[in-house]
Formats: sequence, C-alpha cells, structure tokens
Amino acid sequence: MTDKLIIFDTTLRDGEQSPGASMTRDEKLRIARQLERLKVDVIEAGFAASSNGDFEAVRAIACAIKDSTVCSLARANDRDISRAAEALKLAPRARIHTFIATSALHMEKKLRMSPEQVLEQAKQSVRFARNLLDDIEFSPEDGYRSDMDFLCKVLEVVIQEGATTINVPDTVGYAVPELYGQFIKTLRERVPNSDKAVWSVHCHNDLGMAVANSLAGIKIGGARQVECTINGLGERAGNCALEEVVMAVRTRRDFFNLDIGIDATQIVPASRMVSQTTGFVVQPNKAVVGANAFAHASGIHQDGVLKARDTYEIMRAEDVGWSANKIVLGKLSGRNAFKQRLQDLGVSLESESEVNHAFTKFKELADRKSEIFDEDILALVSDESVTPQREHFGFVSLSQHSETGEQPHASIVCTVGGKEVKGASGGNGPVDASLKAIESFVKSGAEMVLYSVNAISGSTESQGEVTVRLQNSGRVVNGVGADPDIVVASAKAYLSALNKLHNKSDRVAAQG
Ligand code: KIV
Ligand code: ZN
Repeated sequence: MTDKLIIFDTTLRDGEQSPGASMTRDEKLRIARQLERLKVDVIEAGFAASSNGDFEAVRAIACAIKDSTVCSLARANDRDISRAAEALKLAPRARIHTFIATSALHMEKKLRMSPEQVLEQAKQSVRFARNLLDDIEFSPEDGYRSDMDFLCKVLEVVIQEGATTINVPDTVGYAVPELYGQFIKTLRERVPNSDKAVWSVHCHNDLGMAVANSLAGIKIGGARQVECTINGLGERAGNCALEEVVMAVRTRRDFFNLDIGIDATQIVPASRMVSQTTGFVVQPNKAVVGANAFAHASGIHQDGVLKARDTYEIMRAEDVGWSANKIVLGKLSGRNAFKQRLQDLGVSLESESEVNHAFTKFKELADRKSEIFDEDILALVSDESVTPQREHFGFVSLSQHSETGEQPHASIVCTVGGKEVKGASGGNGPVDASLKAIESFVKSGAEMVLYSVNAISGSTESQGEVTVRLQNSGRVVNGVGADPDIVVASAKAYLSALNKLHNKSDRVAAQG
C-alpha cells in the first residue's frame, strides 16, 4: 500500500518574496504553465490582497491553469480572504491558504494580540473562507516555535471549522529533522480530529536543512503534502527545493513508499526558467539541477560510469530533463517554427506585433549565433526590450572602445518614455563605462548590490546572461539581460532593473 505525496509549489508566492525575485504577471503566468507541465498538484500563485499586481497575477493564473489546483495566500481576515476568493473565481480547482502567527513571540511582538484573540481570529477566518470555497488550507505561522498545547487547540478548532489541509511552517528555519518529524507526529496524535485534514510541511532553509526537515516531517510525522519551490527560491536562504525533495522521495521509494504525480523530465526546464526569469543563478554543484550534478570529472568515476552507469549514478540525467538541452532552432527556422517553440515553452506573447518583434530579435541572434537553444529563446523573451513599448527605459544601441593602457569609453542610445536619449562616459572597464553612460542621463542614484555574468549554453559562442541587482529607497530589484555581447547584455540588464524600480508597486509582506 502506498500513499500519495501532494506537491505544493510556492515559487510564485514564498519564492517571489525573496528580495529581487519579484516577477511580472506575464513571467508568473509562464512559470505557472511550466509548473502545470511539471504536474505539481497545487500552485500557490501569489498573495492576492498584497497588491493589485499580485491580484492580477493570481487571477490570470487561475484562468489559465486547468490541471493543477491554484491557490492564493491570505492573512486571517475577511478582506484578504475575499480578495483571494475573487482572484480565484475562474479557477477550475481553487484553494485559499489562510494563516496567522501562533508563536508567543510573534503574537506578542508582531501581532500584539493575546492567544485567545489569535484563536478566535483563526476560527472566524476559516469559517469565513469555508463559506466561499471548499478547499481551505490553514497555517499557524512560526508554528514550529509555538507552544504545543496552544497549537493543538488552534488546529483542532480550524479543522472543526472546515480547514482541509493543515500546514506546519518552520518559518525561520530553526528545526532539525528528528525534532520536526516528531513535532508533526505529536500534533497528529494529539489533535483529536487530525484525521479530517491532510498534514503539510513547510520548511525554510536558514540552517540548510529545509529538505531534510521536510523529509522527516513526511517520514516520521506522516505529512502527505510538502511545500517547496523550484531551485529552493525564497527569502533569506530559501525554501525546501522541489527538485531535491521530489527526487529524494522518488529515488528512495524503497524507504518512503510514496507516490508522486510529478513529471520529472520537466524539472530542469522549470529550474532554468525560474533562474532566467529571476536572475537567481543556480550554483553548479546544486543537487539535481546544478550544471555539475551529473558531470563525472574524476577518471575513476568516468571509467566506472562508462562500464556501468549505476556504479556512480543514482539518478539518470535524462529522467530529470537534462536531455532537454537540445538545439531547437537556427538561422533557417521560420516564423511558424519559432511561434510553435514559444508555445511549447509556455510563452504567450500578447499580440502578433510582439511575436513579430521577438521573431526579428531571434533572427538577429541567429545571424550571430548558429545554434539556438531553448535557454536562448527564453532569455530573448525575458529581455524587456522584446516589448519596448511597455517599458520606460529601452535599449537602442551601444558602442564602446577599450584598448590596453587606455581608459575604456562607451556611448549609448536608449529610449526614455519613448524618446531617444544619448549618453557617454568613461569607466574602469567597458561594462562600467556603459552603465555610467546610462546613469549620465537617468541619474537614478541606485546602488548596485550584485552584478553577475553567466554563459547561457556554456561556451564562448553562447549568449552572456547578466544579472544586475539594484537597491534604491529600501527596494531591491533584479534586472536580467542577454546578448552574445556581454557589454550589451549588461546594459540591457541595468535598464531592466531600472524599469522595475520605475514601475514601483507597494506590496504588503506576508510575514511583515
Ligand atoms: O513560512 C511561513 O510561515 C509562510 C506562511 C505564510 C505559510 O510562508
Ligand atoms: Zn514560508
């Protein structure tokens, strides 16, 4: 007899809360479509009440996704819950995930509420939500650091009110595997109506144990839902990584004895899409999705793998989607093939003129680069200059000169609010000069907190993908740009970050 483990993906909600990882509605929609192809059971699409942008993103995902349940987070109050229900109205399968903090520390210092008030608010909120939807998840925030007796009382009451999933967050990543597993087990034993709900684990990675803690919650505690994000994206050190928890349960089925509905061949494409969209680069030695995860460098290992793969491989690279790294298009590919590939990658450009613009960019790229990979196409459409009419700052052209012994110099032409503007500057290097040339007319005053370059498909012929993280007035944004010329990619990334600072939207933080 096996049970099913429900995979609840929160890349678009908890993952997106990571400073700099915020995504546009279209980017979220594209990732949601990939999550559906990955066959996750639940997609937490956002926190509808936090901003109009998040509301629209949840609504768009609710309309587009057919096979996964779409969920919105909501604080335990009627307004948030109504906004969530409204955003989810058109979803074939919808869930509201409501939460309130239950640890003494959070209740006293953050909420300034007594335990009795928190208990009452949890009860009323779940009752209210249950009148709007059948599928209700409840989370006691900072649950792992909450008093066991109080937590049991709260969870008993919310199950009585109709919560169908109980999620136990280790909000600050404080747990260790055995204790967290035991914590879930004790809750399930002590809450009298625990059998009326599915139990779920939600672990943060502050001590690097999010996956281990989640697995212990499943194995020792008997949880049957795991909350996770692609690449472990999330605030601070991130959340439990979907690819790791899924492949651990699948590879060690002998131990976990659980079924998972995931199509693992979609894991690497999902990882790449999230990394390219957010600019959060995946470390090479990251389990399952890192570039070295299946590379055998030592002679002894290579020899063993050639003789029999299972001498050193416990998973096959192609089973998690590494073979998806294929040449898909080239110089001779036509508009229809390009459009079809966009569709296969889950990219929907809104109008024919956007498709035409993207196709022109693709042709320009194909003239400079003979092999075009899926990653190149995704980079091309992530690049805001594909839809320049929507952006305040747009890239037009760049020329720069650098020579040994001379100070590099750059001249750039951009659009600002649709008008062409020119700037020029010297700098420490060609990239520095180009970004200073942009600043010469933008004068954003933003501080650069990260600059990174990554070769998209691994060779010098590949496109350079640049991530720029800017900080201004307490906001942190990431901009991503791609081009075979890394100086141009840097200028595009800088403009993309400036656009995000320009389109500022105020959001309410889930844990704020
Ligand atoms: O970590 C946490 O406590 C959360 C809740 C809002 C579920 O993300
Ligand atoms: Zn969380």
